Amino acid sequence: MADSTHGGHLGAVYAATAPNEVAAAYDKWAETYEDEMRKAGYRHPSVALALLTRHLPRGAGPILDAGAGTGMVGEWMGIVGYPVVEALDISSGMLAVAARKGVYSQLHNVALGGALPFADRQYAAILCTGVFTTGHVGAEALAELVRITQTGGIIVATVKGTVWEGGFAAEIDRLTRAGLLTLIEETAPYISMPGEAATSPSRAIVLRLNP
Ligand SMILES: C[S@@+](CC[C@H](N)C(=O)[O-])C[C@H]1O[C@@H](n2cnc3c(N)ncnc32)[C@H](O)[C@@H]1O
Repeated sequence: MADSTHGGHLGAVYAATAPNEVAAAYDKWAETYEDEMRKAGYRHPSVALALLTRHLPRGAGPILDAGAGTGMVGEWMGIVGYPVVEALDISSGMLAVAARKGVYSQLHNVALGGALPFADRQYAAILCTGVFTTGHVGAEALAELVRITQTGGIIVATVKGTVWEGGFAAEIDRLTRAGLLTLIEETAPYISMPGEAATSPSRAIVLRLNP
């Protein structure tokens, strides 16, 4: 169940040890990412879409797709009733593929994990699929996402078990005790890529920002 056993592009992105390495690995993968993820039965976009539509009223916006990649989640937003969606990603190559879909009102080539160039409470919702995972982004990014989410707004994120246990759950506890948010939904652990051997489980969560 170790992510270190993956080969190819997936192995390269999991093995990255710094944000610039992650960006470079995704730049190389961008054009074939969706084909490979579909073949692996990639589930995070569907799970996140279901949770978003359960907790966010139709028409709410703007939404930030944080770590949008090629737009595998973003492309459904307009179809299901959320017309204004922006993409953020560290990889310009992934964003270039996302841009071709014409579904995002803005593209931000920005890294999660540090200060974000957005106003307090700018977004009605944040989507973050496949980003809180091995070698990518950890709990250190959460406080900034909370800062830029509107009161009453939501954050829908998928989180790999190792990241959850490695500080993410503790950070949610801290932000909850500070009165900033409520964990309103947490799925059971599931395998995000059933077609990829040795994928370790993830969960999806929904956080609501307290008034
Ligand atoms: C597994 S892909 C998921 C893409 C998309 N959300 C999806 O579900 O298909 C992970 C994405 O996170 C991006 N990423 C990794 N580290 C990042 C960081 N520090 N800041 C912003 N994006 C990051 C990668 O460039 C990549 O596009």
